[in-house]
Amino acid sequence: MSRSRGSKNQQNLTARPGRGAADRPGVCQTRRQILFAATATTGAVGIGLATLPFLSSLAPSTRAQELGAPVTVNVDQLDPGELITVIWRGSPVWVLRRTPQMLERMLHKHLIDGLADPDSSVVSQQPPYARNPFRSRRPDLFVAIGLCTHLGCIPLYQPTPGNMPFADDWMGGFFCPCHGSRFDLAGRVAKRVPAPRNLVVPPHQYTKRGSLIIGVDDQRDEMTTIASTS
Ligand code: FES
Repeated sequence: MSRSRGSKNQQNLTARPGRGAADRPGVCQTRRQILFAATATTGAVGIGLATLPFLSSLAPSTRAQELGAPVTVNVDQLDPGELITVIWRGSPVWVLRRTPQMLERMLHKHLIDGLADPDSSVVSQQPPYARNPFRSRRPDLFVAIGLCTHLGCIPLYQPTPGNMPFADDWMGGFFCPCHGSRFDLAGRVAKRVPAPRNLVVPPHQYTKRGSLIIGVDDQRDEMTTIASTS
């Protein structure tokens, strides 16, 4: 009968390994140990490799550290009227060396009358040491986050006074082409434009050698406040 043949064959098959070397008790146990060790090693390596990306994602990346770190700028290199942009915490920060003529224009009554917040009364927009007509620690150097306070576009630097397509009697400043907001050379916002506030002045300080450091100052509480609004 096929069934009995099958049983017979099955018996033969199950019996066959008993005739091999692996079926001998000592050899079989050794093979099992080797297989077990190999499997465990492979598993451990696999888990380790699979965990690596996860662990590395927990550690702050170099880029993340760079984004949060203070930025030092050698301002000696700046020419009068020159503006440079550096990146701090992922945002563009302008450093502008203003000329004496620029500073003079910023005190004109005609300009001030057209500003929405000439006295920097919104305290979240600058540290205390920048609540002055020039909104800066040093009158010649203006430091500001170059993002429009309307919807975050980057305004254009337009330092030359005169009649402009976007403003008559332009006194020099920044123009945001997205929706037409205007700011003077201290980042003070004009009246009747979409941007609601002056540009943000980030915390900053100067070293004894005159280098500018953006992102630190001696008023840490204020730095935290400013950072949370940017
Ligand atoms: S984003 Fe600057 S005016 Fe709208």
